[in-house]
Amino acid sequence: MRRIFIAAAILTFAPACSEENPDTETILELSGDTANGKLAYDNNCASCHMADGSGNDALSYPSLAEHAKHESDSEIVTIVLDGEGAMPSFRANLSDQEVADILAYIRAEWG
Ligand code: HEC
Repeated sequence: MRRIFIAAAILTFAPACSEENPDTETILELSGDTANGKLAYDNNCASCHMADGSGNDALSYPSLAEHAKHESDSEIVTIVLDGEGAMPSFRANLSDQEVADILAYIRAEWG
C-alpha cells in the first residue's frame, strides 16, 4: 500500500520539467526480467515498433532493432516515460518494474 501511495505521490508531483528525471534513475537501478519485458513490450510497444523491433517506415515508427544499440539505457527509459513526437508517454501505464523489464528485453533482443 505504501508503495502505491508513494508512486501516486510521485505521479502527482512529477514536475513539468523534463531534463531532471528522477524516475529514470530509479528504474535504472532495478533489475529487469526479459520474459516479463517481452510480455509488456508485446502489449504496449509492438503495435508501432513491431514484435520483431523492425518498426514501420511508412508511419515513421523507428526500428528499435537498428536504433536501440545507439541509445543509452537512460535515453530509452526517458523516452518510454515521457514519450517523444508521435510516441505517447507510458508513465501512467507502466510500473517502474515493467519499464525496467522492457529495457532488459530490448537489450537482450536488439543490443
Ligand atoms: C503509437 C506508436 C508508438 C508506440 C505504442 C510506442 N512507440 Fe516508441 N516511438 C514511436 C515514434 C513515432 C518514435 C519516434 C519519436 C521521435 O523521435 O519523434 C518512437 C521512438 C522510440 C524510441 C527511440 C528510438 C528512435 O530510433 O528514435 C524508443 C527507444 C522507443 N520508441 C521505444 C518504445 C517502447 C519501449 C515502447 C513501449 C513501451 C514504445 N516505444 C511504444 C512510436 C511509438
